[in-house]
Amino acid sequence: MKVVFRTADAPQPRLIARLVAQDALPADLDAVVREGAGAARFTGKAGQTHEAFLAADGGVKRLALAGTGRADAGSDRTANLEKAGAALTAKYLTSGEAALAIDFTGSGLTGTEAASVLFGARLRGWRHDVYRTKLTDDQKPSLTEVIAVAAPEGTAAAWEAESALAEGIEFTRELVAEPANVIYPESFVERCKARLAGTGVEILVLGLKEMTDLGMGALLGVAQGSVREPKLLAIRWKGAEAAQPTAFVGKGVTFDTGGISIKPAAGMEDMKWDMGGAGAVAGTMLALALRKAKADVIGVCGLVENMPDGNAQRPGDVVTSMSGQTVEVINTDAEGRLVLCDALTWVQKEYAPKTIIDLATLTGAIIVSLGNEYGGMFTNDDGLAAKLDAAGKASGDKLWRFPLGPAYDKLIDSPIADMKNVGPRYGGSITAAQFLQRYIDKGVAWAHLDIAGMVWADKPGQTWDKGATGYGVRLLDQYVRTVLEA
Ligand code: BES
Ligand code: MN
Ligand code: ZN
Repeated sequence: MKVVFRTADAPQPRLIARLVAQDALPADLDAVVREGAGAARFTGKAGQTHEAFLAADGGVKRLALAGTGRADAGSDRTANLEKAGAALTAKYLTSGEAALAIDFTGSGLTGTEAASVLFGARLRGWRHDVYRTKLTDDQKPSLTEVIAVAAPEGTAAAWEAESALAEGIEFTRELVAEPANVIYPESFVERCKARLAGTGVEILVLGLKEMTDLGMGALLGVAQGSVREPKLLAIRWKGAEAAQPTAFVGKGVTFDTGGISIKPAAGMEDMKWDMGGAGAVAGTMLALALRKAKADVIGVCGLVENMPDGNAQRPGDVVTSMSGQTVEVINTDAEGRLVLCDALTWVQKEYAPKTIIDLATLTGAIIVSLGNEYGGMFTNDDGLAAKLDAAGKASGDKLWRFPLGPAYDKLIDSPIADMKNVGPRYGGSITAAQFLQRYIDKGVAWAHLDIAGMVWADKPGQTWDKGATGYGVRLLDQYVRTVLEA
């Protein structure tokens, strides 16, 4: 979806939208339209739409009303404006119209608010149709352009950053939506290289040889059942001089069969999106580079495929991680922590970050706890918790904090190695986080975000269709804006 800006006197497409605040139909609307909207119980509630047809210029115009809710909606205001834009592109994506004009005349919005409407429109207009070759014409998306007409002053400037963010979110969605025969460690890296080329980021890739030399036995143990070579991808955006960078680390299991502790067949196809953490990191790095964020950030993706095979690791195997700590692999399906622990050790050794935020589709248990509304947050630093919580609220990628502590930590002690990779049945998301914490150096502020319930949606949401949501990109971008760029 392309967003362009036009003045009110430029030629307009057939489909024109007006924004309507709650219970405030614009007085200049055609009397028939006003009465029709009332009859259809259109009140301007956020996300509500109403379609009218008008005779104009010897033809017919399609007039769409989109509700923006109350101007005094407080913290819901931005989400409401996004909803208005999103409702429009959702409604008209396959309408046959190629262009949608949003006429901001008399909307009373600020430039930032108008950009939120455009942002919602853009995000909700994204679909992954690459493999749908038999769509009939009326099933195919027709809408390719949103025209902002008479946008308030400051909209275009605000849109610049928002459009970079939208690119990042869309890139994440693309990586997540692709099947695992298309996106595997090597092709994930190639996609990132292609997409990030020319943006000014620095890319470093470790393969099997380098990771073997570094002693990443935990990550490599997961990878050894797969014919796909594992990769560690590092993307550096140095948009500012900082004493120490901030690190984002993502779980990139491009497919998780469970390994020898194999998962049941039903629903296993979902495990193509077990790289959603890495996808969010890659999309965030793209957004930061495109909007030239004034921050020093290193994004690391631990990329492996978890397969059962004659060469796969066995339950009971003991592996030595890069940190030197040994792990008894009780369950080969608890592979995400094994990938992350080596990625975490490597980023600390290589870049000495002050703060680390990892994102991972780590446990089914977090979905049992939080459903599909919040990501789970685990952190050793109350200040970081507050900042991430605020970034979650502001961005809409919400987080809910969980506890950590020694009583949970001892649940993963092993009789034969330094730790085992699973604890008892209960508290599974917490013991997974405790495992990761054992790899965090003293003095490093660290947060682990378990996003298993958030990267994929079975039904459409406010700014996404069903499928990949792009969760995490807005959250991290917001964190960078308010914490690192402030
Ligand atoms: N990738 C899964 C977690 C997951 C489950 C993500 C469902 C999204 C939806 C992870 O690797 C996993 O298998 N975790 C196990 C851990 C268990 C073996 C301790 C789980 O949650 O069952
Ligand atoms: Mn697993
Ligand atoms: Zn997994």
